[in-house]
Amino acid sequence: MAPFENVQIASPAFKADPHPFYARLRAEAPVCRVRLPDKQEAYLVSRYDDVLALLKDPRFAKDRHNALTAVQLRKQPWIPPVFAPLLRNMLGLDDPDHARLRALVQKAFTPRRIEQMAERIGILSDRLLDDVEARRVRGHPSDFDLIRDFATPLPVTVIADLLGVPPSDRENFARWSNTIIKNTASPAEMLFAVPDLLAFVRFLRRLIRERRAAPRDDLTSALVQAEEAGDRLSEDELLAMMAILLTAGHETTVHLIGNGVLTLLQHPAQLECLRAKPTRIKVAVEELLRYASPVDVTTQRYAREDLEFAGTSIPRGALVFGVIGSANRDERQFENPDTLDIARQPNRHLAFGQGSHYCVGASLARMEGQIAINTLLRRFPGLRLAESPDRLRWRRGLVLRGLESLPLGIASALSARE
Ligand code: HEM
Repeated sequence: MAPFENVQIASPAFKADPHPFYARLRAEAPVCRVRLPDKQEAYLVSRYDDVLALLKDPRFAKDRHNALTAVQLRKQPWIPPVFAPLLRNMLGLDDPDHARLRALVQKAFTPRRIEQMAERIGILSDRLLDDVEARRVRGHPSDFDLIRDFATPLPVTVIADLLGVPPSDRENFARWSNTIIKNTASPAEMLFAVPDLLAFVRFLRRLIRERRAAPRDDLTSALVQAEEAGDRLSEDELLAMMAILLTAGHETTVHLIGNGVLTLLQHPAQLECLRAKPTRIKVAVEELLRYASPVDVTTQRYAREDLEFAGTSIPRGALVFGVIGSANRDERQFENPDTLDIARQPNRHLAFGQGSHYCVGASLARMEGQIAINTLLRRFPGLRLAESPDRLRWRRGLVLRGLESLPLGIASALSARE
């Protein structure tokens, strides 16, 4: 095992600044064997070209049943059975099931449906910031936590809207989804989430029943109709689809907004450049995705056979991850990779993955990030960090990289609403 074994790659302290470690990995151990927090062994792939190759390599499976031997399968961590139907989702499957489910969601997740969300995202952003401003007026000048008050409620409301969750259920929907998303790191945590998970599944089944009886112009109705047209989506698959859209689309977007705003506030000249010309936001968000990638490490892949990858032997059944946060700072691919340049072009970052599992929600996430950040900057010209960056708390976890909270000051803000 390499000397990198003891690095706690999912710990908050590591997540605060993983880049020096990633630079060492790229230089010294581009395919590196490590031990994960749950004691499983895994390989981390850290160079840009290798991560790209990994994500397109058919010798790796997403579904462990397609790669592990019977003995290896018996040793896999236990997962509470109520989670089982939800785990049969796109991100954990291989073709042909993966291609079938993906084609269905793509039919329902149309560019028109996403475009229609733009106005709604703008209104929601303004409404959330109205609340922040109202609190300031009531005398809590520094009581603005970007994560709690803006970056978290925005994506969950957007997904609820997209799925057609009625306004009366939105608060419950947000609560259930927060518990579920925050408690999937270990089987013990999963048990903690069971009551909310059961309520969530009951709610989704009711929504599916209602939309089957009376379709509306929402994603749930479109998925139900896709199911009926081809009879190719079971109710559990439909449920798993709705759950993966929520889980894959929620915290990732929270961290795009959180990491993005923190990065801009740490780079005042770049921030001013964006404020001076807000139309720069599209290119700027791509750079924020590269520089402070919300998905730091891909989800799991398993070697289907004993194989050779980038000069390293990997045994059948081994767990392999691509380190997106490292690939996006690879000096072999990007000029001055550690410099934030909001005008960087081209910018072929891997923040949304690559290959057949490339992010289904990439255009929605981009649009949300662009509108959220520009609305925040427009509303608060005096936005500043209320805490020194080295005191910020980062979330524990292997895959995502993002903040627990981001206290901001808006005291000098003139309300700049147009
Ligand atoms: C900034 C926000 C987001 C980032 C950085 C992100 C990133 C990613 C990445 C890296 C993958 C591939 C993972 C892998 O191959 O291991 C992925 C897959 C996926 N994402 Fe996103 N995502 C974001 C937002 C969203 C949103 C808003 C949705 C939906 C509403 C979504 C839905 C999905 C789904 C369903 C998959 C699985 C696709 C498949 O297996 O074919 N994501 N995302």
